[in-house]
Amino acid sequence: MTKMTIRDLRSHIASLEAVGALSRITRRVALDHELSDVAAAMQRSDTGAALFEDVDGSPWPIFSGAVASQRLAAIALGCEADEVVDRMGEVLDPANGVATRYVESAAWHANTVTGSEVDLDMIPIPVHSRGDGGAFITGAVTVTKDPVSGRGNLSYNRMLRTGRNSLGFNVNEWRDVGTFMKNRPDPDAPFPVALAIGLDPAIMIAAGIRTPVDELTIAGAIRGEGVEVCRGVNVDIDIPARAEVVLEGFIHPADRAPEGPLAEFHGYLGEMWNSPTVEITAVSWRDDPIYQTIVPGWYEHIYIGNVLPREPLLRRFIRHVDPTADVHIPPYGNGFLAVISIDRDNPGTPRNLAMAAMTAHINIRNVVVVDRDVDVSQPSDVLWAITNRVHWSDDIFTVPHAQGHEMDPVADKRGVGVKVGIDATYKRERREYGERVAYAPIDLSRYLG
Ligand SMILES: Cc1cc2nc3c(=O)[nH]c(=O)nc-3n(C[C@H](O)[C@H](O)[C@H](O)COP(=O)(O)O)c2cc1C
Repeated sequence: MTKMTIRDLRSHIASLEAVGALSRITRRVALDHELSDVAAAMQRSDTGAALFEDVDGSPWPIFSGAVASQRLAAIALGCEADEVVDRMGEVLDPANGVATRYVESAAWHANTVTGSEVDLDMIPIPVHSRGDGGAFITGAVTVTKDPVSGRGNLSYNRMLRTGRNSLGFNVNEWRDVGTFMKNRPDPDAPFPVALAIGLDPAIMIAAGIRTPVDELTIAGAIRGEGVEVCRGVNVDIDIPARAEVVLEGFIHPADRAPEGPLAEFHGYLGEMWNSPTVEITAVSWRDDPIYQTIVPGWYEHIYIGNVLPREPLLRRFIRHVDPTADVHIPPYGNGFLAVISIDRDNPGTPRNLAMAAMTAHINIRNVVVVDRDVDVSQPSDVLWAITNRVHWSDDIFTVPHAQGHEMDPVADKRGVGVKVGIDATYKRERREYGERVAYAPIDLSRYLG
């Protein structure tokens, strides 16, 4: 099959539809909770991405679940599912970055409101999980520019709607956008920002990467051509020209307000924060725009933030130990679990591999090592190996008082906790059962109609 060219959300939707990976949901859904419930259920079962065509109270259709599984990541990256880690490894190399291309006009120039005309009620911002503290923009990519170096940056920042033209803006420590603001002569001065919504998934994937380069050059590497960018109506920032919706405005670093809680990557509700606020000064949109949202604390959030940027790093570390080992960070483990698959040779190698993965990234706390006959993309298969190949007193080791992420739900508040390695490989030297029972993979659609 020839691959379709993806340049924006619309062409991405067409490419998903061409391979049966998009569901158009015509039944009316509520903006609050119901839309997220449906999108979350689809992500858990890898049903594909969702385009909600009739959302109660929304003038626009809403898209969700662009990158919520290895299959969908492969479509977004234009490769096969078993090439995703290789592809991410290539595009993460700054040497492969492709510079943006400046264009004079953007598709979203078609419609603009500014100043007192701005009313965020016109944007269909969902309330996602039942514990969320309000309507949060979760699928916008924050586009900023370092006023010192002139370098651009992409990030995700949860944003709570707090008024007609105001949002709470969550920014953790050590984020580039925070550093940009702090490094100015007046760190509290208003800071220009653009929020791009409804995007080519290459830009969505790039925005989840923590790197000191302009992530738009990574999106360019994914597509093999520079992302088209255009200056804003109110702000001098290079904004993706093919975005569906663009909000522009100014972060007020010292003008703080409570925002939260919101479903977090770790699978619980995050904390309340006293965050900077954003004043929105312009809203622009394409004709017939599509709003995009990420269900927070769920598979797409984990895929963009924890799986795609980190699998190449983990693989590099474990391949120092075993050059043929593979690794997957399954989304149901919230970025704390890695599953390594190997051709088992020396009995001690699984432990060395587990240690390599634990040190590759601070968030990795539990590591399961399995043989090649286990399908690491199937939770039931990984559990099968844990159940049937682990001698609990012999095959598990722990590393107490190791440094993990400070939001890890089983670590202390500074992120210190126990890392756990599980050797779930087949120990033939213990007892030999021969090969595992296997049936040939079947395309069920040929039989079930
Ligand atoms: C869906 C999603 C939501 C996120 N929300 C926030 C957030 O609210 N605040 C924050 O500081 N980081 C958040 N992050 C993490 C950063 O946006 C992300 O790591 C980004 O790559 C930061 O990189 P930078 O420092 O290079 O800009 C989120 C990540 C994802 C994938």
